[in-house]
Amino acid sequence: MAVLVAYASAMGSTQEIAQHIADRMAASLEGVECRSVDGVESVSGYDAVVVGSAIHNQSWLPAADQFFARHASELAKRPVWAFNVGMADALPKPFRKKGAALQQARLAGVLPQDLALRGHRMFSGVYKADQMSSALRTLFRLTGGRFGDFRDWTAIDAWTDEIAAQLATPASPTSPGSAAA
Ligand SMILES: Cc1cc2nc3c(=O)[nH]c(=O)nc-3n(C[C@H](O)[C@H](O)[C@H](O)COP(=O)(O)O)c2cc1C
Repeated sequence: MAVLVAYASAMGSTQEIAQHIADRMAASLEGVECRSVDGVESVSGYDAVVVGSAIHNQSWLPAADQFFARHASELAKRPVWAFNVGMADALPKPFRKKGAALQQARLAGVLPQDLALRGHRMFSGVYKADQMSSALRTLFRLTGGRFGDFRDWTAIDAWTDEIAAQLATPASPTSPGSAAA
């Protein structure tokens, strides 16, 4: 079972999540590789693909967009899972859940139409004070925003184990454009 975990990361936290997912999968599956989306020439040699991207301005990073566009036809032939890494848990509490759900829907909505995701998760990443101007930083803090490393490794491990378990059992049918948990 050849599995590709591909990532697009600006500051490194998505790359670390991708590597963690690949390492954990490799404990139960052979042939797991973790690579930057930029370094993937073809996905045809993989049985399954997991793609992760940081979120910038409510969007996939351009490198992830290009990855989906470049490999659309091959991705459509194999099981694909996707994850995005954002700042939901850094937001003031009332905005966290709803904001994350809206953003997840938006991010899934721009994927190629014939790509049937087997799953799509949002994870919080690392959000640092120096990623904002000082005026915005003050406003963000005053309204209950937080800075820090919000990666939930327990949730990431649980999702990884779900994927590994699905890959270890016969494929279940998916419909184009559907996004599972
Ligand atoms: C310029 C910029 C824009 C961002 N825009 C969003 C956004 O729209 N939504 C979100 O949830 N997080 C946003 N973030 C937070 C990042 O996605 C988060 O810090 C993530 O952990 C970065 O991943 P990386 O370390 O792999 O680059 C933004 C961060 C930066 C620097």
